[in-house]
Amino acid sequence: LSARLSIDPATSIGAVPRRLFGTFVEHMGRSVYEGIYEPAHPSARPDGFRADVLALVQELGATTVRYPGGNFVSGYRWEDGVGPRSERPVRLDAAWHSVETNQIGLHEFADWAREARLELMYAVNLGTRGIADAADVLEYANHPAGTALAERRRANGAEEPFGIRLWCLGNEVDGPWQIGHKTADEYGRLAAETARLMKFIDPAVELVAAGSSNAEMPTFGEWERTVLRHTVGLVDHISLHAYYEESDGDAASFLASGTALDRYIEQVAAIIDEAGAGPGSEHPVGISVDEWNVWYQRRWNEIDKPVVMNGDWPERPRLIEDAYSVTDAVVVGSLLVSLLRHSDRVTMANLAQLVNVIAPVRSEPGGPAWRQSTFFPFQRTAALAHGRVVAPVIEVPSIRTAAHGEAPLVDAVATVADDGGIVLFVTNRSLEEDVALEVALRGVADSPVGAGGASALQLFRLVSAETLRTPPGGDRHTINDADAQPVALTRLDGVRLDGALLTATLPALSWSVVVIA
Ligand code: AHR
Repeated sequence: LSARLSIDPATSIGAVPRRLFGTFVEHMGRSVYEGIYEPAHPSARPDGFRADVLALVQELGATTVRYPGGNFVSGYRWEDGVGPRSERPVRLDAAWHSVETNQIGLHEFADWAREARLELMYAVNLGTRGIADAADVLEYANHPAGTALAERRRANGAEEPFGIRLWCLGNEVDGPWQIGHKTADEYGRLAAETARLMKFIDPAVELVAAGSSNAEMPTFGEWERTVLRHTVGLVDHISLHAYYEESDGDAASFLASGTALDRYIEQVAAIIDEAGAGPGSEHPVGISVDEWNVWYQRRWNEIDKPVVMNGDWPERPRLIEDAYSVTDAVVVGSLLVSLLRHSDRVTMANLAQLVNVIAPVRSEPGGPAWRQSTFFPFQRTAALAHGRVVAPVIEVPSIRTAAHGEAPLVDAVATVADDGGIVLFVTNRSLEEDVALEVALRGVADSPVGAGGASALQLFRLVSAETLRTPPGGDRHTINDADAQPVALTRLDGVRLDGALLTATLPALSWSVVVIA
């Protein structure tokens, strides 16, 4: 099998939105407690946060973090999580049938996020609450001083405002599972009124209206149209959530999940255009892919959820701690390709979630923390995608998939840095066959520029080539766990750069990244 790509830096589709590499911490399961925070852990710092987990989060290199939910936020009272810890109430979390101790709240999390080098994106409760509470938490967080709420924040230890810029107006309100589920009209009105008040209080905020929970929702499309009718001019982004999984052993469809995400984003973009809020309009609305990942939801819905929702009310139960395989990591890499390719419309995105709960980082109480397979494509893409995005012209055979129709066997995107350096992110979706790849680089000299000869063309050298593939002795289901982490990036051997022609062999079922500068 072979694939030919052509990369022309002159055809850039726009700047890499660095917020594309966001992530998500929800108060659920062992994400916060026993995830980022475990005061009794040997690596715990004086503030109770785990140093080993923090180090992995810093290494992951995400740019933003959405907090505190998720479904959790639709029943959350933000003020439960501020003030002296000994006085914080213990509450039922009806979203996840758990008990919330409120030992971590806005202050502790904002401090942790700062150390983790993550911009905080805060979600307000539009499930059990409404515009007054959204306004209160905004004033508490962002107003400098002199009002009851700002002074309360200062008395609680934060002299300076948190300066939170990104705010989500509720979560998955279209879903019947959501606390305070609403019709599109009900939500659209509430989101508009909340947005208006929040912008009165702090005009610098950027607001995200809640779009659909997935592309299969019966209300998808109509939901976005209605919500935008109410909110255009008041919000800056509309969200979509997208989770993918392998069903009934249909690996081909699973590996083509990027094609489904492409379509989903393009459908939402078309609705934004219809609403008169496309790029270049007076009030453009971007797409925030607020939650995306591989998530084995069928297992959760059919096996785990009936048990969790009927049993006791535990603290920090083990919820949706999916162990990710080589195949899952290749899909995550290709979903990142899809997000980058749509960076003219997608303004930000969050890998859901960050620690333990469908996460790239896992930890055990009192024990180790480790990188899941999905850590690697995310970490490398976040570290290397800078400058402008270029969608290569791709000539490859297609694969037929039961769920998504035809999908290209090889998918790729490139970024071009200010100094002209090119990074190629590329996935081979074939389960069995290697692919011979040829990449023509436009605007690159095919021989050294002669002494004194001025040329607009650049001469490049190969800096690095890495791949995530099935490790020796493993198979496509191999995972990393607390005892062994066989899935990692390895060098992609045999890559050659001859002037303007790059050649490589992409291993079967792989995600690779090639850097030339
Ligand atoms: O990320 C897990 C859950 O997925 C979130 O709480 C919810 O928003 C979505 O359904």
